[in-house]
Amino acid sequence: MRKPFVAGNWKMNTDSHSSVELVERIVVGASKIAGRAVTIAVCPPFVYLQAVAQAVSASSVAVGAQDVYFEQNGAFTGEVSPAMLKDVGCTYVICGHSERRHIIGETDEMINKKIAAALAGGLLPILCIGELLGEREAGQTNKVVTRQIEQGLAGLSAEKLSAVTVAYEPVWAIGTGRTATPQQAQQVHRLIRELLAKIYDEPLAAEIRILYGGSVKPDNCAELMAQPDIDGSLVGGASLKADDFLAIIESAAV
Ligand code: 13P
Repeated sequence: MRKPFVAGNWKMNTDSHSSVELVERIVVGASKIAGRAVTIAVCPPFVYLQAVAQAVSASSVAVGAQDVYFEQNGAFTGEVSPAMLKDVGCTYVICGHSERRHIIGETDEMINKKIAAALAGGLLPILCIGELLGEREAGQTNKVVTRQIEQGLAGLSAEKLSAVTVAYEPVWAIGTGRTATPQQAQQVHRLIRELLAKIYDEPLAAEIRILYGGSVKPDNCAELMAQPDIDGSLVGGASLKADDFLAIIESAAV
């Protein structure tokens, strides 16, 4: 049985005051559903990680970073290593978010190195994958997602894979208010799980949590969560409003 997982990706939002205020409200709300199975994480900007991690330290809410570099230390101006993220209290790290792929120019090869470095540094990576609108319209969704999984996870042992979460985020659904239908999302989640079973094996593929992301809101999360291969969500905009994020967590908790 896969434990539901809801993570908030705050992207480049909040400030030193509002980041702590937001997470404090989430901690209070989450304490009311403590005892029900759900993993909760928030992913603030790098500069607020430490303050947010301190604010959640006595709670069940975990903290993740939005990115990581694949080297341990040295002359890599502006980058942040897995050890640094661990040091300030991170448990998770998002790797290969579509905004990093398509705005910053990250490649599958870089993302693969980030996943490996994150795992080596004791972090739990959330590998983001998903097709562009044009790719979906050209019937290439399966091909794109397959490439992102195969290259993103290349060289990873079964033991390492068990620490990875996958997030399917169709790019056309991110920040657009245009959510994938539960059926569209389920079809790709199924494909991802079958692919993991082919690369590794079925019992392991059945253990891996696959989150959906892309305009997840309180009013559409329940029908997404009802799909057999959707194990939670990676929430952008709605994770910046404590009440909305808590409603999404509530509907995922079992
Ligand atoms: P939105 O929920 O704002 O569409 O963002 C999704 C996302 O990119 C989460 O990583």
